Amino acid sequence: MNEDLREIADELRRHLAWQESDGTRAILKGLEAAQAPKTEAPRPAAPGVPEGPTRTLQEIRTELGDCKRCKLCNGRTQIVFGTGNPKAQLVFVGEGPGAEEDAQGVPFVGPAGQLLTKMIEAMGFKRDDVYICNVVKCRPPNNRNPEGDEIQACEPFLKAQLASIRPKVIVALGKFAAQTLLRVDTPITRMRGQWREYEGIPLMPTYHPAYLLRSPDEKKSAWLDLQQVMKRFDKAPPSK
Ligand code: URA
Repeated sequence: MNEDLREIADELRRHLAWQESDGTRAILKGLEAAQAPKTEAPRPAAPGVPEGPTRTLQEIRTELGDCKRCKLCNGRTQIVFGTGNPKAQLVFVGEGPGAEEDAQGVPFVGPAGQLLTKMIEAMGFKRDDVYICNVVKCRPPNNRNPEGDEIQACEPFLKAQLASIRPKVIVALGKFAAQTLLRVDTPITRMRGQWREYEGIPLMPTYHPAYLLRSPDEKKSAWLDLQQVMKRFDKAPPSK
C-alpha cells in the first residue's frame, strides 16, 4: 500500500477506536443533526434531461458537439466529457478540468486525479470500473471556480450522463458537484459523509481530492465517507 493509503487507513483505525471506545459517534451524530439547518432550501429544478428514450453517452457527447454554450469555450484546449465504464455502478463527479485534463481531454489525470485514482483503488475498484466526469466540461481559466452561468449551461449534459449510466451510487467530489446535483447551497463541510439522493440515486458528498492535497488532515474524513460507499457494494476496507 502506498504512503497516502497507509496514512488514511492508520488515521481511520485510530479514529474508529476512539469513537468506539466511548460511544462518541452517537453524540457526534446528535450534534451534527442539531447543527444541521432545519430547512435546506433547495434551488429550483435544473432544466431537465430532455424527454424521450435515455441516450447513450456517445449520443450525449455528439449533442454536446463543439460546444459554445458558455464562455469557457474561449479558453479551453478541448472538451473533457468523461471517462470510464458507461455501465458503471459507481460514478464520481468533480468540478471541472484543470490544466492536465484540458491538455489530455480526460478528467482527473493531474495531481488531484492521481489521488482520486488511489482513492478508487483503495475502495476496491479499478479506475476503468467506474465513471468519472465533471460539472463543467471545459477548463475554467487559471483554474478559477466555475461560474453560475457556466454550470447552468453544462448541467443538462451532466444530468444526461447520469441518466444514461444510472449508477447505483454517485460520489460528489467537493462543493460544486454536491451543490449542483443537490441544488442546495449547503457547505461541503456540512454535507460530507451524509447520504443524500439525486434523482433516486444515493449520493455521497465528500471532499474534493484537490482539497485533500492541500489539507491532508482531512483525508481521514474522506476515507470514512468512501467507506460508507464501499459498504453499499459489500466491499471491506483493505486489511493493510
Ligand atoms: N479537478 C476536477 O474537479 N476535475 C478534474 O477533472 C480535475 C481536477
